[in-house]
Amino acid sequence: MSEDQAENRRTTVSDIQARKGGKPIACLTAYSKPMAQWLDPHMDLLLVGDSLAMVIYGMETTRGVTLDAMINHGAAVIRGSEHACVVVDLPHGTYEDSPEQAYTSARRVLDETGAQAVKLEGGVEMAETIRHLTGQGIPVLGHIGLLPQKAESRGGFKIQGRDDEGWKQVMADGVAVAEAGAFAIVIEGTVEALAREITETVAVPTIGIGASPECDGQILVTDDALGLFSDFTPSFVKRYAELGEDVARAAKAYADDVQARRFPGMEHCFGMKKVKKDPPRL
Ligand code: KIV
Repeated sequence: MSEDQAENRRTTVSDIQARKGGKPIACLTAYSKPMAQWLDPHMDLLLVGDSLAMVIYGMETTRGVTLDAMINHGAAVIRGSEHACVVVDLPHGTYEDSPEQAYTSARRVLDETGAQAVKLEGGVEMAETIRHLTGQGIPVLGHIGLLPQKAESRGGFKIQGRDDEGWKQVMADGVAVAEAGAFAIVIEGTVEALAREITETVAVPTIGIGASPECDGQILVTDDALGLFSDFTPSFVKRYAELGEDVARAAKAYADDVQARRFPGMEHCFGMKKVKKDPPRL
């Protein structure tokens, strides 16, 4: 349990920022109220990631999810949590055109969900937007390295920083996003030494996913870590449970009970109200 949890208050973006170089920041994604309730006591940060497009809605990429959907899921996660700092992804197409477009989207997310911050993908090219948002009081979690929203246009889900040019670009992205005012930066899918060097260079916490154990925190997609999403499992994921298999076992046990008339039992059924009879008049 973190100090903020012991203090019985929600973790703020300043609390997260203050963890630079300290106790690693534990983060997972959450998309629903019940899952947020299970995760919240143990997490410093819950991300309502646009990965929900793939793991919840079965879309092929993260690009199909709308701002309204992100807001609905964000509000659900806020209802299910009281300790973790909650961050909501700005989905593809809602922030890249201009800093003003990003502000309108981010304002809606914070006002309509109660989340603490938004996350957006991009490095040097998004620095002006991040500066604009943070200048208007909107906390931003940066996201550099492998950018799922842009993966298609960049030749697929490829580990970043494997050559000199790529290394320099991701390093420049990290520095630009930190200097623009992001309170922390997700580093996804990079060469380990690059994520380590960015972590040593920037003044804000880095949160790794397929990055480096030296990052200031780690994040995974919950459905990957719990074995709920089985279409594919990236090699950087550690499975902590096989809940999908548990669900299938439970579904089979239920179907067997129904078909054998073992469920429902009488204890699951209702009788009529007991009517209290008046005593006989003498
Ligand atoms: O959408 C998401 O879940 C993310 C994490 C992978 C960092 O951006």
